[in-house]
Amino acid sequence: MDEQLVFFNGQILPLSQVRISPDDRGFNFADGVYEVLRFYKGQLFFASQHLERLKRSLAELKINYPEVNAVNNIIENLLEVNNLQQTDGLAYIQITRGDFPRIHQFPPANTPPTVYINVKEWKAFDLTKSQSIKAITFSDMRWGRCDIKSIALLPNIMSFQNALEHGAGEAIFIRDGVITEGSRTNIFGVKNGIVYTHPFSNSILPGITRQIVLDICEKENLKVLLFPIAESAISSFDEFFLTGTSPEISGICQINALKIGNGETGPITRFLQQEFEKLKAK
Ligand code: PDD
Repeated sequence: MDEQLVFFNGQILPLSQVRISPDDRGFNFADGVYEVLRFYKGQLFFASQHLERLKRSLAELKINYPEVNAVNNIIENLLEVNNLQQTDGLAYIQITRGDFPRIHQFPPANTPPTVYINVKEWKAFDLTKSQSIKAITFSDMRWGRCDIKSIALLPNIMSFQNALEHGAGEAIFIRDGVITEGSRTNIFGVKNGIVYTHPFSNSILPGITRQIVLDICEKENLKVLLFPIAESAISSFDEFFLTGTSPEISGICQINALKIGNGETGPITRFLQQEFEKLKAK
């Protein structure tokens, strides 16, 4: 297999030739942001929404990357040079505050950011069709700006690992008695035909897949309440599902020891999955 070609600081080069400095702000401080987006048959999926979120993350952290608008073109170039134009996969973008000897203050404004982009073939597990996943709850020990897609993800990976070690596929964060989101997904519940999810705030990432689902609900006249689900109310819900760029929409059949609904992906979740498939096929 040919070596993967990636974008690094203005150049397309084989992955093995990328050299990142130990002084990189990402390495020392997790001082950077990222994006993950999907391509289906080589076509970028909701790319402008991901680009807008990337710009927002950069602006919130005051990381200056003037060429940010070129990112989607770079991804398209990478798809071409890696021969992935007919493939389903994931693109990953990471931008840090650059390479500068470790100091807490920002480095001089002319320090170029470190920019790394890769694309790879990837298919969602076929969870979307019938299987649904188990989740566990986990105390949300993250910082106060979960709306920024920062590369500082220790609580996310700790909680996700904990979920895997308990035979579950996602950790659901609980903060102040309510569900905020998952370790790598947004969380929705359905009760009496009404779809609930946490409102946009600093406590959640504004997921692109979350927004796609909200838009489908609006179009299809499904009632939505942007209202946090209390942990104590989980047992009163008929369905739960998660959304994210990689898992798309997946039903949740169990939270901790509690079986959700009849333990299978619920009817509203299935309907949303079908509508999502239509968008992929467009
Ligand atoms: N995860 N919440 C968190 C904490 C996330 O990390 C993600 C995405 C989401 C879902 O957002 P979207 O629908 O835009 O993918 C919600 C990415 C993909 C990751 O860390 O790999």
